[in-house]
Amino acid sequence: MPDLSINLAGLKLANPTMTCSGTCGYAFEYADFMDLSQLGAFVTKSITREERRGNEPTRIVETRAGMLNAIGLANVGLKRFLDEKVPQLRKMPCPVIVNVAGHSFDEYTETVAAMNGLDCAAGVELNVSCPNVKDGLTFGTHPGRLKELVAEVKKVLPSKPLIVKLSPNVEDITVTAKAAIEGGADVLSLVNTFTAMAIDIHKKRPRLANVTGGLSGPAIKPIALHLVSRVYRTVAKHTGTPLIGMGGVQTWQDAAEFVLAGATGVSIGTALFVDPATPNKVVTGLSDYLQKQGIERLTDLVGALQMPGDEPRKTPYP
Ligand SMILES: Cc1cc2nc3c(=O)[nH]c(=O)nc-3n(C[C@H](O)[C@H](O)[C@H](O)COP(=O)(O)O)c2cc1C
Repeated sequence: MPDLSINLAGLKLANPTMTCSGTCGYAFEYADFMDLSQLGAFVTKSITREERRGNEPTRIVETRAGMLNAIGLANVGLKRFLDEKVPQLRKMPCPVIVNVAGHSFDEYTETVAAMNGLDCAAGVELNVSCPNVKDGLTFGTHPGRLKELVAEVKKVLPSKPLIVKLSPNVEDITVTAKAAIEGGADVLSLVNTFTAMAIDIHKKRPRLANVTGGLSGPAIKPIALHLVSRVYRTVAKHTGTPLIGMGGVQTWQDAAEFVLAGATGVSIGTALFVDPATPNKVVTGLSDYLQKQGIERLTDLVGALQMPGDEPRKTPYP
């Protein structure tokens, strides 16, 4: 059997599959539909310091090639997370990564600090696609501010990997990727959703109450793949920063593309709404693929994409 295990800055996972934050609840919501023990890691919904009701409905709209959501970070908040969700997360049959969001430096650091000593949190993923309450500017789209935020957060999470989740809604994602690494990110995950909208032509109004939302699913896969490839080749390969790729992964072939482009881990989100067993199928498909290709370890495939002008890789594999 090929070795599918990966190492994300010290966080060892049995295989590369993860759930995308916000698409799989906090813990066991999908337990009847997917084998959680076969996940590389489970990633929780974003947690904020305070409980949030989120945006008014309509918050989700289906489009032909994916999904538009404007949930507005509805979540139970830190206190209820610790009281109600952590006892469940302790029973998870796979490592848990807690996704944290915030609207100020203090909110981020206070919430992340609570995760440092938490036995069931193997790592933290930072959702930086949130506006700062002070000036409305999004943390993840301003390199200077992003670097400062990551540095502050890293101080309160000295003993666990910090994953910074990049927004694709920027001019050049390699600039924010560099800023996050300079701030102290151990791992980068990419990408979050793309800002988009849908219009009800009969009512002549936006279909989402929030007007705009985040597009996810098959429509964004080729763009997400390109961004992973760019960040890998321009930044992550040189700094040795592992990447978690996501955006429209539906099949093991999609996952294999992300790995070839440079992703060590692969997360699955919108596809779960169609088939919650997708991560389990991705594991089986990747294993068969490696076996057929005569590749012993998945990690040998990370970034193995041959670009025009590249030197052939010094591995025995094709
Ligand atoms: C309904 C929904 C809710 C989401 N909520 C969050 C969230 O709370 N925090 C976060 O970091 N990303 C959130 N995301 C973004 C996903 O984690 C992921 O980055 C994105 O959907 C791309 O992957 P996919 O195409 O496989 O869904 C959400 C996505 C969806 C569809």
